[in-house]
Amino acid sequence: MNISLPLNLLLLLVFAHLSCLFVLVPVYAKVFLSIDCGSSSLKSRTDNNSIVWVGDGPYIKTGKTHKVNVAPPNISGWDSRAMSTLRAFPARKKNCYSIDIESKTKDSNITVARVLVRASFYYGNYDNKSNPPTFSLQFNGNNWGSVVTTNGIIYYEVVFSLNKSSNIDVCLAQTQPDNIPFISALEIRSLDPGAYGYIPADFPLFFTERTAYGTNTTIRYPDDSFDRIWSSLGPLDNTSTVTRVRSNSPSIKVDVEDKPPKAVLRTTLLPLNSSHDIFYSPTRNHQFRLHFNAYFSEVIKLNSTQKRSFDIVVNNKQDNSFIAPKNPVIPPYGRTLEVHILNVTIFNSSFSINLLRTNDSTLPPLINALEEFIIGDKLAQGTNSNDVKALGLLQKSFAQLEDWNGDPCLPAPYTWDWVACNNDTDSPRITELYLNDLGLTGTLPDFSAMDALRTINLSNNNLTREIPEFLGTFPELTVLNLADNNFNGTVPSSISDDVNLKFNATGNPNLLCTPTSVCNTDPESRIPPPSTGNTDPESRIPPPPSTGNTDTEPIPSPVDKGRSSKTFAQPIIILLIMFSGLLL
Ligand SMILES: *[C@@H]1O[C@H](CO)[C@@H](O)[C@H](O)[C@H]1NC(C)=O
Ligand SMILES: *[C@@H]1O[C@H](CO)[C@@H](O)[C@H](O)[C@H]1NC(C)=O
Ligand SMILES: *[C@@H]1O[C@H](CO)[C@@H](O)[C@H](O)[C@H]1NC(C)=O
Ligand SMILES: *[C@@H]1O[C@H](CO)[C@@H](O)[C@H](O)[C@H]1NC(C)=O
Ligand SMILES: *[C@@H]1O[C@H](CO)[C@@H](O)[C@H](O)[C@H]1NC(C)=O
Ligand SMILES: *[C@@H]1O[C@H](CO)[C@@H](O)[C@H](O)[C@H]1NC(C)=O
Ligand SMILES: *[C@@H]1O[C@H](CO)[C@@H](O)[C@H](O)[C@H]1NC(C)=O
Ligand SMILES: *[C@@H]1O[C@H](CO)[C@@H](O)[C@H](O)[C@H]1NC(C)=O
Ligand SMILES: *[C@@H]1O[C@H](CO)[C@@H](O)[C@H](O)[C@H]1NC(C)=O
Ligand SMILES: *[C@@H]1O[C@H](CO)[C@@H](O)[C@H](O)[C@H]1NC(C)=O
Ligand SMILES: *[C@@H]1O[C@H](CO)[C@@H](O)[C@H](O)[C@H]1NC(C)=O
Ligand SMILES: *[C@@H]1O[C@H](CO)[C@@H](O)[C@H](O)[C@H]1NC(C)=O
Repeated sequence: MNISLPLNLLLLLVFAHLSCLFVLVPVYAKVFLSIDCGSSSLKSRTDNNSIVWVGDGPYIKTGKTHKVNVAPPNISGWDSRAMSTLRAFPARKKNCYSIDIESKTKDSNITVARVLVRASFYYGNYDNKSNPPTFSLQFNGNNWGSVVTTNGIIYYEVVFSLNKSSNIDVCLAQTQPDNIPFISALEIRSLDPGAYGYIPADFPLFFTERTAYGTNTTIRYPDDSFDRIWSSLGPLDNTSTVTRVRSNSPSIKVDVEDKPPKAVLRTTLLPLNSSHDIFYSPTRNHQFRLHFNAYFSEVIKLNSTQKRSFDIVVNNKQDNSFIAPKNPVIPPYGRTLEVHILNVTIFNSSFSINLLRTNDSTLPPLINALEEFIIGDKLAQGTNSNDVKALGLLQKSFAQLEDWNGDPCLPAPYTWDWVACNNDTDSPRITELYLNDLGLTGTLPDFSAMDALRTINLSNNNLTREIPEFLGTFPELTVLNLADNNFNGTVPSSISDDVNLKFNATGNPNLLCTPTSVCNTDPESRIPPPSTGNTDPESRIPPPPSTGNTDTEPIPSPVDKGRSSKTFAQPIIILLIMFSGLLL
């Protein structure tokens, strides 16, 4: 699949330098790509946040583009034009965007370490059905979430590490009848190598919340060079027990690994009553492993009698409390403090993070910003790379197969419609290939690397020339259907001699079918050669073919049956003012 490199996929090479020990430092490519799904515009445009948007044509070949019928809401920091077109996917089990970050750089030394990928959805009654759908969202063969769209804008964000493979795939899959998946925008931002680097590289972070408590507008790019979206609590009313205070420091140094934007550290949230503490108490419906980053910066230069000091306590219960490692927290003036609250397992539906002033503190706690993530399951390796390469050969040979993107097998059960896979959830093998009735013409490329195949169905195409020898080399093959094609010559003996193979090559008028060239074998009806003395036909019956799902099942079982609800109960972020349980 040739994907042209868009103009705005900037490759800014950070200079690799040699340390005195001559250790090679990897070179990182910088990616900042904003795809306006459903927009066929070939020209890029720049929005009010200085973000450059491009149409989605180069990244996907399937689906249908639409305009919304109800204009998107005007939300601070949010580009409404990107939300007014979308791409919907009425056909196929799953449809994938594929973004090849390194397509034009043949230099294998360029890596993209961690990326942030954001997918946004605005239904806008594009289909006039007044029925916002629910469907499955996936990335690089992993489950991302069950998208439950509403009449507002929702978005999902994931931070993950790319291995050697430089593709980012984002897939949408139907999970319920009449719920057609769609997507409005897809944004990809590479992160600095250090950002979120304390999370092991094989675990994704699913965004649930990112709030800048001191600001009254949304903050994102260009303030945040990674273009994270920092929401505001919105206007505070007269009855509020908290206030926003601007730092009186002439400058604020952001010297922490996750690099929050300066604008987030400029203003902070403080209780009005200096004896009050701060409680953060959201509700989460499932058991998750959560990760929090809290950001602090002192707003006034304290004199010798003033002290601001507090402990971060999770849950605040004697039996189940958890003290963050860096306690007590003393926000630095003119600088930034980041506190990780890592690996908090939430058992109950509600929990709290409490900022409790220490006894010697003369001032109440403050907070600038808080990020909350769900730590996902370990990333899958993806379908066996030999299988993927062989599928690539088939896709190159037959235009009918070209527009299939994403992982062919994962996440289960969302395979490409024309393959079936074994049960391995980390690096599955392709066990069945269904290329029948596709109008394939010409000759087959050698896909013998897919050596876990048990079933190959190539019937009812227009494949020509001799039946290739390699079709007789698959060690696990039990079904080979070449019926109704245009093969000529004779059947290779490696195929006709295979006593376990159910082989069908009827309907190939130029194929020689003689007693020595068998065009139709069925091990179940085969009469064993007399020399074995074995007359029991049962002894030759091969193991039954795999019963994995095939292309006969258009819609996978509803509600992501069989998958862990852990990955699938992502909270959704509704872009409304979020008084997200910050209590005082
Ligand atoms: C959206 O809101 C911004 C300020 O909040 C305003 O400047 C702009 O004109 C609004 N756009 C529309 C289309 O209403
Ligand atoms: C961008 O800003 C201009 C002027 O502030 C406003 O009129 C316009 O509606 C904004 N565009 C979008 C898409 O919000
Ligand atoms: C990649 O790095 C290796 C050393 O690790 C070097 O030998 C090779 O030339 C580099 N490749 C390119 C294309 O720069
Ligand atoms: C939806 O209804 C509007 C008029 O209300 C019409 O212009 C549009 O073509 C309809 N769209 C679809 C997809 O039916
Ligand atoms: C937002 O806060 C700034 C000061 O930080 C203030 O000047 C501005 O009026 C506020 N805007 C709104 C809409 O409250
Ligand atoms: C410290 O600052 C506080 C508040 O501005 C003030 O009340 C107090 O007198 C100051 N103490 C000293 C020693 O300057
Ligand atoms: C996170 O918590 C889980 C369960 O409480 C534990 O198994 C795992 O080892 C922890 N991971 C880290 C990095 O602390
Ligand atoms: C990335 O590659 C390393 C080594 O090649 C491997 O150990 C690791 O499991 C891979 N991670 C993922 C998510 O595939
Ligand atoms: C898949 O796994 C289930 C149980 O884990 C097993 O019963 C089934 O036979 C497996 N299917 C294949 C095709 O391996
Ligand atoms: C099959 O392919 C051959 C040549 O490749 C062509 O002449 C013939 O018309 C094709 N038949 C059909 C039914 O497409
Ligand atoms: C099969 O057909 C091709 C042309 O379509 C021809 O070149 C080749 O010789 C034929 N092979 C046999 C064994 O007849
Ligand atoms: C061979 O395949 C053709 C076409 O799919 C079918 O009609 C026929 O019944 C098959 N023969 C056997 C023995 O399976």
